[in-house]
Amino acid sequence: MDFNVKTGDSDKLRSACVVVGVSGPRRLSPAALRLDKAGRGQLGELLKSADIDTECGKTTLILNPRGRIQAARILVVGCGKDRHLTPQDFTRIAASTARALQSGSATEAISFLTELDVEDRDLAWKAQRIVEATRDALYRFDELKSETRPPKRPLRKLTLAVADREALAIAKVGVSRGTAIANGIELARVLGNRPGNLCTPSDLADQAAALKQDYPALKVQVLEERAMEKLGMGALLSVSRGSRQPAKLIIMRYSGGAKEDRPVVLVGKGVTFDSGGISIKPGAAMDEMKFDMCGAASVFGTMSAVAEMGLPINLVGIVPATENLPDGDASKPGDVVTSMSGQTIEVLNTDAEGRLILCDALTYADRFKPDVVVDIATLTGACVVALGHHTTGLLSNDQDLADELLEAGQASGDRAWQLPLWDEYDEQINSNFADMANIGGRGAGTITAGCFLARFTKDYRWAHLDIAGVAWKSGKDKGATGRPVQLLTQFLVQRCS
Ligand code: BES
Ligand code: MN
Ligand code: ZN
Repeated sequence: MDFNVKTGDSDKLRSACVVVGVSGPRRLSPAALRLDKAGRGQLGELLKSADIDTECGKTTLILNPRGRIQAARILVVGCGKDRHLTPQDFTRIAASTARALQSGSATEAISFLTELDVEDRDLAWKAQRIVEATRDALYRFDELKSETRPPKRPLRKLTLAVADREALAIAKVGVSRGTAIANGIELARVLGNRPGNLCTPSDLADQAAALKQDYPALKVQVLEERAMEKLGMGALLSVSRGSRQPAKLIIMRYSGGAKEDRPVVLVGKGVTFDSGGISIKPGAAMDEMKFDMCGAASVFGTMSAVAEMGLPINLVGIVPATENLPDGDASKPGDVVTSMSGQTIEVLNTDAEGRLILCDALTYADRFKPDVVVDIATLTGACVVALGHHTTGLLSNDQDLADELLEAGQASGDRAWQLPLWDEYDEQINSNFADMANIGGRGAGTITAGCFLARFTKDYRWAHLDIAGVAWKSGKDKGATGRPVQLLTQFLVQRCS
């Protein structure tokens, strides 16, 4: 799928399809107005007869438009009633445009959605968002289908129309940023969607090596279980005990900044399948626990996007990767393990495994002298109860860092919502037998998980993103979303300005 940018008028540009927006009750965008004039009032008539739906995101295809119009088709996209669109509306408009084009017969189109008015957003943002939303809408996971049924006439090229040369340069920046981020999101989705038998910890390690091939600016190192033993990573290794697949600790480094710049470190939970272990999960929807490595996938996706954009920062990605399975040798409820930090942990529930692998990875992160550390994890079912599927849960030991992430969420549309990390909650993970327990009782499961991690991140500024509700969709659209790659890349872009 190619994107490019061009200047010109909606009635004069030659194309298989020209895309314009129309708001209700009958307000034509400037490009739509030109088409209406050149077409002797055709759009106005179709609006009057209600053959064009102006509801936000509804599309109407006009074949053989009348008059002096150089495009073979017009796709009219409804923009709702408000004069200014919200960023969410604009995303919906761009996505439904992509779906309409993909199912239609034009393989190429020129879009004037760039001229729509979006609250507090500029042209570069709109161009970036069109690329991201289009790629998102057209993505399909078909690598495991023996017969793929691609659309008969897929969309191959989308041209974004802009007013003048100055706008051309601005939109191009948006397109290239959008392309890098869309590639990162797609990588995160592909890895997330792969089943547990094809996406093992070793496969993730291979993936890191493949990423290095694509981006020579990346350095990759993989620690084996023996090395983890030497480091004293007893918490991480207690999870992989029950699995025949060896755990891997994957470290990716991107150096785009000055040598002395402290890096941002991203740590992603990479449980390639979470059965719960001896505290085994019920069977219903257990297949979805192949998505328990989506935090890791978002780190891969973000590393790739940042490398493709060539951002002037230093970035480290750490992925502890393991399976969580029951076995005669698996950890048992009540077992006490010693983490790399020296703190001991009573494993009251082997299904609370994410925090056990993250705590050792977070201790390891300290050796990179980080400016900030952000971990990303499908950590708790409680987060889905608290926040549903719309927002990531955010917990942090530093309010400035939390604010930066919240702002990046707003700006990218990939939003997060903060929960408190108070001492009252921390008491819930006290243990009679070790320094702490790995679960905190009935209430506030997302927060007590955060309190657990906070005990390992005292030496640096840190934030935790619980993506249990947003990393994948269930039901008929079951599949990884690629979240929160947009939030993370936006956060890193913001730090460069
Ligand atoms: N990977 C799960 C969390 C999860 C569950 C994410 C369902 C999305 C949907 C995690 O390892 C887990 O099992 N957490 C337990 C913690 C509990 C034992 C304290 C949970 O949420 O039930
Ligand atoms: Mn679990
Ligand atoms: Zn898990």
